[in-house]
Amino acid sequence: MPTLTFLGHACCEARAGETRVLFDPFLTGNPLAAIRPEDLTPTAILITHAHNDHLGDAAAIARRSGALVVSTFEIATFLEHMGLKAHGMHIGGSRAFNWGRVKLTPAWHGSTYLDEHGFHPLGTPAGFLLTLEGRTLYHAGDTALFGDMQLIGRAGIDLALLPIGDNYTMGPDDAVEAVKLLRPRAVVPIHYNTFPVIEQDPKAFAARVARETDARCIVLNPGESTEF
Ligand code: NI
Ligand code: MN
Repeated sequence: MPTLTFLGHACCEARAGETRVLFDPFLTGNPLAAIRPEDLTPTAILITHAHNDHLGDAAAIARRSGALVVSTFEIATFLEHMGLKAHGMHIGGSRAFNWGRVKLTPAWHGSTYLDEHGFHPLGTPAGFLLTLEGRTLYHAGDTALFGDMQLIGRAGIDLALLPIGDNYTMGPDDAVEAVKLLRPRAVVPIHYNTFPVIEQDPKAFAARVARETDARCIVLNPGESTEF
């Protein structure tokens, strides 16, 4: 069975056998980070969008480990120009890599990257469906609630990673609605409590998921894991 480890904010790592798929590695500057970037050796790095709290340490980890970065065409091209190994895809597209199957899903959000040269507009944000060993994980990325989550759920989601922080993304009320549309077997809340503006009570969210949906809600502290 694959394992999902929550590493803080939207950063998670899915493992199956030798395969390690890392999502949105924002660790440097993340007060809740459960690991240092230099301690990660992923097979692939999946980036939902370019905001600094998602692209984060991706370039440094990819450069050191040789991991393939998979993201939207705009972000992949931006990273290729930095000399990194990247594979561009886009929303609605899927691809079977030799370590797992990836499909990009829509997300309602932004996707700019800020560095010393200013803001880089890097296309539209995305979410991911990742299938490893026959199990399907949905990382929603940073997004609002949207009705097409009902269609995404038809993939048969074993574990959904949903933001609950509010302000920049869905808050707990909309995330409960998202669970009703996606109908995953289990849900793990992410993207909360990293900064004061996204403070939430994950236990209260879990209680609502248990009361109002058929999904199991698993609250993971940074560094904790669950099978899926
Ligand atoms: Ni964002
Ligand atoms: Mn974010």
